[in-house]
Amino acid sequence: MKIVVIGGTGLIGSKLITKLNALGHEAVAAAPNTGVNTLTGEGLTEVLKGAQVVVDVSNSPSFEDAAVMNFFQTSTRNLLSCEAAAGVGHHVALSIVGSEGLPQSGYMRAKVAQEKLIKEGPIPYTIVHATQFFEFTKRIADEATVENIVRLPPVLFQPMAADDVASALCKVAITSPLNRAIEIAGPEAFRFDELIRQRVSADNDPREVVADPSAGYFGTQLTERSIVPGDNAQLGTTRFEDWLREPSNQVVPTSAATSGSSTTATPPCSRHSCTTRPRAAPRSRCRAYPCWTALPTAASPRCGCTSTSRRCSSGSAPSQLSLLPRK
Ligand SMILES: NC(=O)c1ccc[n+]([C@@H]2O[C@H](COP(=O)([O-])OP(=O)(O)OC[C@H]3O[C@@H](n4cnc5c(N)ncnc54)[C@H](OP(=O)(O)O)[C@@H]3O)[C@@H](O)[C@H]2O)c1
Repeated sequence: MKIVVIGGTGLIGSKLITKLNALGHEAVAAAPNTGVNTLTGEGLTEVLKGAQVVVDVSNSPSFEDAAVMNFFQTSTRNLLSCEAAAGVGHHVALSIVGSEGLPQSGYMRAKVAQEKLIKEGPIPYTIVHATQFFEFTKRIADEATVENIVRLPPVLFQPMAADDVASALCKVAITSPLNRAIEIAGPEAFRFDELIRQRVSADNDPREVVADPSAGYFGTQLTERSIVPGDNAQLGTTRFEDWLREPSNQVVPTSAATSGSSTTATPPCSRHSCTTRPRAAPRSRCRAYPCWTALPTAASPRCGCTSTSRRCSSGSAPSQLSLLPRK
Protein backbone atom coordinates (compact mmCIF):
# COMPACT_ATOMS: atom_id res chain seq x y z
CA MET A 1 0.00 0.00 0.00
CA LYS A 2 1.32 3.49 -0.79
CA ILE A 3 1.27 5.57 2.38
CA VAL A 4 2.42 9.20 2.27
CA VAL A 5 3.78 10.54 5.53
CA ILE A 6 3.55 14.32 5.68
CA GLY A 7 6.38 15.39 7.97
CA GLY A 8 8.05 12.05 7.19
CA THR A 9 11.51 13.49 7.89
CA GLY A 10 10.65 14.60 11.44
CA LEU A 11 10.98 12.84 14.78
CA ILE A 12 7.80 10.75 14.53
CA GLY A 13 7.66 10.70 10.73
CA SER A 14 11.07 9.15 10.21
CA LYS A 15 10.32 6.35 12.70
CA LEU A 16 6.95 5.73 11.08
CA ILE A 17 8.49 5.49 7.60
CA THR A 18 10.92 2.83 8.86
CA LYS A 19 8.14 0.80 10.47
CA LEU A 20 5.80 0.97 7.46
CA ASN A 21 8.57 0.01 5.03
CA ALA A 22 9.56 -2.90 7.28
CA LEU A 23 6.01 -4.23 6.90
CA GLY A 24 6.38 -4.10 3.12
CA HIS A 25 4.41 -0.92 2.45
CA GLU A 26 5.55 1.84 0.14
CA ALA A 27 5.98 4.63 2.67
CA VAL A 28 6.90 7.99 1.17
CA ALA A 29 8.29 10.84 3.26
CA ALA A 30 6.84 14.20 2.27
CA ALA A 31 8.39 17.38 3.64
CA PRO A 32 9.90 20.59 2.25
CA ASN A 33 13.29 18.96 1.80
CA THR A 34 11.75 16.16 -0.25
CA GLY A 35 9.99 18.77 -2.43
CA VAL A 36 6.58 18.72 -0.73
CA ASN A 37 5.26 21.78 1.05
CA THR A 38 1.74 21.60 2.48
CA LEU A 39 1.65 25.35 3.11
CA THR A 40 2.21 26.29 -0.52
CA GLY A 41 0.84 23.08 -2.03
CA GLU A 42 4.15 22.43 -3.84
CA GLY A 43 4.61 18.77 -4.79
CA LEU A 44 1.37 17.59 -3.16
CA THR A 45 -0.47 16.45 -6.29
CA GLU A 46 2.56 14.47 -7.46
CA VAL A 47 3.33 12.75 -4.16
CA LEU A 48 -0.30 11.76 -3.54
CA LYS A 49 -0.68 9.97 -6.89
CA GLY A 50 -1.65 6.37 -6.13
CA ALA A 51 -1.63 6.88 -2.34
CA GLN A 52 -4.28 5.07 -0.32
CA VAL A 53 -3.38 6.58 3.04
CA VAL A 54 -1.91 9.89 4.23
CA VAL A 55 -0.48 10.26 7.72
CA ASP A 56 0.07 13.87 8.77
CA VAL A 57 2.78 14.20 11.41
CA SER A 58 4.03 17.58 10.25
CA ASN A 59 4.66 20.41 12.67
CA SER A 60 4.78 24.16 12.46
CA PRO A 61 8.27 25.64 12.29
CA SER A 62 7.04 28.42 14.59
CA PHE A 63 4.96 28.00 17.75
CA GLU A 64 3.90 31.67 17.67
CA ASP A 65 0.07 31.83 17.92
CA ALA A 66 -0.80 33.23 14.48
CA ALA A 67 1.91 31.28 12.68
CA VAL A 68 0.95 27.94 14.15
CA MET A 69 -2.75 28.51 13.43
CA ASN A 70 -1.94 29.45 9.84
CA PHE A 71 0.30 26.40 9.48
CA PHE A 72 -2.21 23.79 10.63
CA GLN A 73 -5.23 25.36 8.92
CA THR A 74 -3.61 26.11 5.55
CA SER A 75 -1.70 22.82 5.43
CA THR A 76 -4.75 20.76 6.35
CA ARG A 77 -7.00 22.52 3.81
CA ASN A 78 -4.41 22.00 1.05
CA LEU A 79 -3.86 18.40 2.04
CA LEU A 80 -7.52 17.42 2.25
CA SER A 81 -8.34 18.98 -1.09
CA CYS A 82 -5.41 17.25 -2.86
CA GLU A 83 -6.27 13.96 -1.11
CA ALA A 84 -9.85 14.20 -2.39
CA ALA A 85 -8.58 14.76 -5.94
CA ALA A 86 -6.16 11.82 -5.61
CA GLY A 87 -8.78 9.44 -4.17
CA VAL A 88 -7.01 8.92 -0.82
CA GLY A 89 -9.15 6.72 1.43
CA HIS A 90 -7.77 7.41 4.91
CA HIS A 91 -6.34 10.56 6.49
CA VAL A 92 -4.51 9.96 9.77
CA ALA A 93 -3.40 12.91 11.89
CA LEU A 94 -1.40 13.16 15.08
CA SER A 95 -2.76 15.52 17.71
CA ILE A 96 -2.44 15.97 21.45
CA VAL A 97 -4.26 14.51 24.45
CA GLY A 98 -6.29 17.26 26.12
CA SER A 99 -5.99 19.77 23.27
CA GLU A 100 -9.71 20.69 23.38
CA GLY A 101 -9.51 21.56 27.07
CA LEU A 102 -6.65 24.04 26.77
CA PRO A 103 -7.95 26.94 24.65
CA GLN A 104 -5.59 29.44 26.32
CA SER A 105 -2.75 27.86 24.38
CA GLY A 106 -2.35 29.10 20.81
CA TYR A 107 -0.70 25.81 19.84
CA MET A 108 -3.59 23.75 21.23
CA ARG A 109 -6.13 26.04 19.50
CA ALA A 110 -4.34 25.38 16.21
CA LYS A 111 -4.40 21.60 16.75
CA VAL A 112 -8.14 21.77 17.51
CA ALA A 113 -8.66 23.83 14.32
CA GLN A 114 -6.71 21.17 12.37
CA GLU A 115 -8.94 18.45 13.81
CA LYS A 116 -12.13 20.39 13.01
CA LEU A 117 -11.12 20.65 9.35
CA ILE A 118 -10.42 16.91 9.25
CA LYS A 119 -13.72 15.98 10.93
CA GLU A 120 -15.70 18.23 8.58
CA GLY A 121 -13.63 17.27 5.52
CA PRO A 122 -14.26 14.80 2.72
CA ILE A 123 -11.73 12.08 3.67
CA PRO A 124 -12.42 9.20 6.11
CA TYR A 125 -10.06 9.77 9.02
CA THR A 126 -8.52 8.68 12.30
CA ILE A 127 -7.12 11.26 14.70
CA VAL A 128 -4.54 9.99 17.19
CA HIS A 129 -4.24 12.03 20.38
CA ALA A 130 -0.84 11.37 21.94
CA THR A 131 0.60 12.58 25.21
CA GLN A 132 3.92 14.47 25.24
CA PHE A 133 6.91 12.61 23.84
CA PHE A 134 9.82 11.69 26.14
CA GLU A 135 12.00 13.42 23.53
CA PHE A 136 10.08 16.66 24.18
CA THR A 137 10.89 16.81 27.90
CA LYS A 138 14.07 18.82 27.43
CA ARG A 139 12.18 21.42 25.42
CA ILE A 140 9.54 21.52 28.19
CA ALA A 141 12.23 22.16 30.79
CA ASP A 142 13.77 24.90 28.66
CA GLU A 143 10.42 26.63 28.08
CA ALA A 144 9.62 26.49 31.81
CA THR A 145 12.95 27.98 32.89
CA VAL A 146 13.10 31.42 34.46
CA GLU A 147 16.39 32.55 35.95
CA ASN A 148 17.76 29.01 35.90
CA ILE A 149 14.79 27.55 37.79
CA VAL A 150 12.38 25.21 36.03
CA ARG A 151 8.86 25.84 37.36
CA LEU A 152 6.12 23.37 36.56
CA PRO A 153 2.70 22.64 38.01
CA PRO A 154 2.68 19.31 39.90
CA VAL A 155 -0.19 17.93 37.78
CA LEU A 156 -0.42 14.44 36.31
CA PHE A 157 1.79 13.77 33.29
CA GLN A 158 1.94 10.55 31.27
CA PRO A 159 4.41 11.02 28.42
CA MET A 160 5.46 8.36 25.93
CA ALA A 161 8.39 7.38 23.73
CA ALA A 162 8.35 8.65 20.14
CA ASP A 163 8.98 5.07 19.08
CA ASP A 164 5.72 3.96 20.74
CA VAL A 165 3.89 6.86 19.06
CA ALA A 166 5.19 5.70 15.69
CA SER A 167 4.18 2.07 16.41
CA ALA A 168 0.64 3.14 17.27
CA LEU A 169 0.41 5.31 14.14
CA CYS A 170 1.71 2.44 12.04
CA LYS A 171 -1.15 0.21 13.22
CA VAL A 172 -3.72 2.94 12.62
CA ALA A 173 -2.39 3.68 9.13
CA ILE A 174 -2.82 0.12 7.93
CA THR A 175 -6.31 -0.40 9.33
CA SER A 176 -9.65 1.11 8.32
CA PRO A 177 -10.56 4.68 9.23
CA LEU A 178 -12.38 5.03 12.56
CA ASN A 179 -13.80 8.51 11.86
CA ARG A 180 -13.08 9.49 15.44
CA ALA A 181 -10.16 10.24 17.73
CA ILE A 182 -8.31 7.69 19.84
CA GLU A 183 -5.87 8.32 22.68
CA ILE A 184 -2.39 6.92 23.20
CA ALA A 185 -0.10 7.51 26.18
CA GLY A 186 2.88 6.23 28.11
CA PRO A 187 2.64 3.27 30.51
CA GLU A 188 3.07 5.33 33.71
CA ALA A 189 1.74 8.57 35.13
CA PHE A 190 4.02 10.93 37.04
CA ARG A 191 3.82 14.34 38.63
CA PHE A 192 4.93 16.78 35.94
CA ASP A 193 7.72 18.34 38.01
CA GLU A 194 8.89 14.90 39.18
CA LEU A 195 9.46 13.57 35.67
CA ILE A 196 11.15 16.74 34.43
CA ARG A 197 13.40 16.64 37.51
CA GLN A 198 14.43 13.10 36.53
CA ARG A 199 15.22 14.26 33.00
CA VAL A 200 17.22 17.29 34.13
CA SER A 201 19.13 15.21 36.63
CA ALA A 202 19.89 12.48 34.08
CA ASP A 203 21.34 15.18 31.80
CA ASN A 204 23.58 16.40 34.67
CA ASP A 205 21.85 19.72 34.19
CA PRO A 206 22.25 21.80 37.36
CA ARG A 207 18.89 23.54 37.03
CA GLU A 208 16.54 23.18 39.99
CA VAL A 209 13.02 21.95 39.17
CA VAL A 210 10.34 23.43 41.40
CA ALA A 211 6.70 22.34 41.76
CA ASP A 212 4.73 25.55 41.34
CA PRO A 213 0.93 25.21 41.10
CA SER A 214 0.69 28.64 39.45
CA ALA A 215 3.24 27.88 36.71
CA GLY A 216 1.94 27.73 33.14
CA TYR A 217 2.67 25.33 30.32
CA PHE A 218 3.16 26.81 26.83
CA GLY A 219 0.86 29.74 27.61
CA THR A 220 -1.84 27.87 29.47
CA GLN A 221 -2.68 26.75 32.99
CA LEU A 222 -3.07 23.03 33.61
CA THR A 223 -5.43 21.22 35.94
CA GLU A 224 -4.75 17.86 37.59
CA ARG A 225 -5.83 15.78 34.57
CA SER A 226 -5.73 18.21 31.63
CA ILE A 227 -2.90 16.45 29.78
CA VAL A 228 -3.48 12.83 30.77
CA PRO A 229 -5.75 10.50 28.79
CA GLY A 230 -9.04 8.85 29.67
CA ASP A 231 -9.51 5.20 30.64
CA ASN A 232 -9.56 3.81 27.09
CA ALA A 233 -6.15 5.04 25.99
CA GLN A 234 -3.77 2.58 24.34
CA LEU A 235 -0.57 2.55 26.38
CA GLY A 236 2.95 2.29 25.02
CA THR A 237 5.37 -0.15 26.57
CA THR A 238 8.52 1.96 26.96
CA ARG A 239 9.09 3.16 30.52
CA PHE A 240 10.70 6.58 30.99
CA GLU A 241 13.42 5.19 33.25
CA ASP A 242 14.45 2.63 30.61
CA TRP A 243 14.29 5.21 27.82
CA LEU A 244 16.55 7.55 29.79
CA ARG A 245 19.14 4.77 30.12
CA GLU A 246 19.44 4.24 26.38
CA PRO A 247 22.75 5.71 25.20
CA SER A 248 21.09 7.56 22.32
CA ASN A 249 18.95 9.49 24.82
CA GLN A 250 21.78 10.56 27.06
CA VAL A 251 23.47 13.91 26.80
CA VAL A 252 27.08 13.38 25.80
CA PRO A 253 29.45 15.46 27.93
CA THR A 254 31.37 17.98 25.86
CA SER A 255 35.13 18.09 25.81
CA ALA A 256 34.84 21.38 27.71
CA ALA A 257 32.93 19.62 30.44
CA THR A 258 35.31 16.72 30.72
CA SER A 259 38.49 18.80 30.54
CA GLY A 260 37.23 21.52 32.88
CA SER A 261 37.92 24.10 30.19
CA SER A 262 35.99 27.34 30.49
CA THR A 263 35.14 27.62 26.79
CA THR A 264 31.47 27.84 25.92
CA ALA A 265 29.90 24.43 25.40
CA THR A 266 27.42 24.11 22.61
CA PRO A 267 24.02 22.81 23.61
CA PRO A 268 22.73 19.66 21.99
CA CYS A 269 20.40 19.56 19.02
CA SER A 270 17.37 21.54 20.16
CA ARG A 271 15.24 19.98 17.47
CA HIS A 272 15.11 16.44 18.76
CA SER A 273 16.84 16.60 22.10
CA CYS A 274 19.47 14.39 20.54
CA THR A 275 22.93 14.16 21.94
CA THR A 276 24.94 15.23 18.94
CA ARG A 277 27.34 18.06 19.53
CA PRO A 278 29.53 19.64 16.90
CA ARG A 279 33.17 18.76 16.77
CA ALA A 280 35.19 20.75 14.26
CA ALA A 281 32.37 21.62 11.90
CA PRO A 282 29.86 24.31 12.77
CA ARG A 283 27.00 21.98 11.88
CA SER A 284 26.69 18.43 12.93
CA ARG A 285 24.52 15.64 11.68
CA CYS A 286 21.99 14.57 14.24
CA ARG A 287 22.89 11.00 15.13
CA ALA A 288 19.47 9.87 16.21
CA TYR A 289 17.39 11.48 13.50
CA PRO A 290 17.81 12.18 9.81
CA CYS A 291 18.10 15.90 10.13
CA TRP A 292 20.66 18.59 9.90
CA THR A 293 20.42 20.89 12.81
CA ALA A 294 22.34 24.09 12.98
CA LEU A 295 23.86 24.59 16.34
CA PRO A 296 24.22 27.97 18.00
CA THR A 297 27.53 29.64 17.44
CA ALA A 298 29.21 32.38 19.43
CA ALA A 299 28.26 34.89 16.73
CA SER A 300 24.68 33.68 16.65
CA PRO A 301 23.88 32.29 20.05
CA ARG A 302 20.15 31.95 19.44
CA CYS A 303 18.85 28.68 18.18
CA GLY A 304 18.48 28.89 14.45
CA CYS A 305 18.74 26.26 11.78
CA THR A 306 20.96 27.81 9.17
CA SER A 307 20.66 24.97 6.73
CA THR A 308 19.12 26.17 3.51
CA SER A 309 16.52 23.44 3.53
CA ARG A 310 15.51 23.37 7.14
CA ARG A 311 14.09 25.79 9.58
CA CYS A 312 14.27 25.83 13.34
CA SER A 313 11.25 23.90 14.54
CA SER A 314 11.42 25.28 18.03
CA GLY A 315 11.72 28.93 17.11
CA SER A 316 13.10 29.54 20.55
CA ALA A 317 16.45 30.30 21.99
CA PRO A 318 18.26 27.69 23.99
CA SER A 319 18.25 28.71 27.59
CA GLN A 320 21.24 30.77 28.58
CA LEU A 321 22.05 28.04 31.03
CA SER A 322 22.43 25.51 28.27
CA LEU A 323 25.02 27.76 26.65
CA LEU A 324 27.20 27.60 29.72
CA PRO A 325 29.87 24.97 30.13
CA ARG A 326 28.65 21.90 31.92
CA LYS A 327 30.39 21.28 35.18
N1 LIG B 1 6.00 17.07 20.93
C1 LIG B 1 5.07 16.38 21.56
O1 LIG B 1 5.25 16.02 22.72
C2 LIG B 1 3.77 16.04 20.82
C3 LIG B 1 2.77 15.35 21.51
C4 LIG B 1 1.61 14.97 20.82
C5 LIG B 1 1.48 15.28 19.47
N2 LIG B 1 2.47 15.99 18.84
C6 LIG B 1 2.31 16.27 17.39
O2 LIG B 1 3.23 15.44 16.71
C7 LIG B 1 3.44 15.97 15.40
C8 LIG B 1 4.85 15.67 14.95
O3 LIG B 1 5.80 16.17 15.86
P1 LIG B 1 7.36 15.93 15.65
O4 LIG B 1 8.01 16.23 16.95
O5 LIG B 1 7.61 14.61 14.98
O6 LIG B 1 7.71 17.09 14.61
P2 LIG B 1 9.12 17.45 13.98
O7 LIG B 1 10.18 16.50 14.38
O8 LIG B 1 9.32 18.90 14.24
O9 LIG B 1 8.86 17.23 12.41
C9 LIG B 1 8.02 18.10 11.73
C10 LIG B 1 7.94 17.64 10.30
O10 LIG B 1 7.04 18.52 9.61
C11 LIG B 1 7.67 18.88 8.39
N3 LIG B 1 7.17 20.15 7.90
C12 LIG B 1 7.39 21.40 8.39
N4 LIG B 1 6.81 22.30 7.58
C13 LIG B 1 6.24 21.62 6.57
C14 LIG B 1 5.52 22.00 5.41
N5 LIG B 1 5.26 23.29 5.12
N6 LIG B 1 5.08 21.04 4.56
C15 LIG B 1 5.33 19.73 4.83
N7 LIG B 1 6.01 19.29 5.90
C16 LIG B 1 6.46 20.25 6.77
C17 LIG B 1 9.13 18.96 8.75
O11 LIG B 1 9.91 18.98 7.58
P3 LIG B 1 11.30 19.82 7.55
O12 LIG B 1 12.12 19.21 8.61
O13 LIG B 1 11.79 19.62 6.17
O14 LIG B 1 10.94 21.23 7.87
C18 LIG B 1 9.28 17.69 9.55
O15 LIG B 1 9.38 16.58 8.70
C19 LIG B 1 3.05 17.45 15.48
O16 LIG B 1 1.90 17.66 14.68
C20 LIG B 1 2.69 17.66 16.95
O17 LIG B 1 1.58 18.54 17.12
C21 LIG B 1 3.61 16.37 19.48
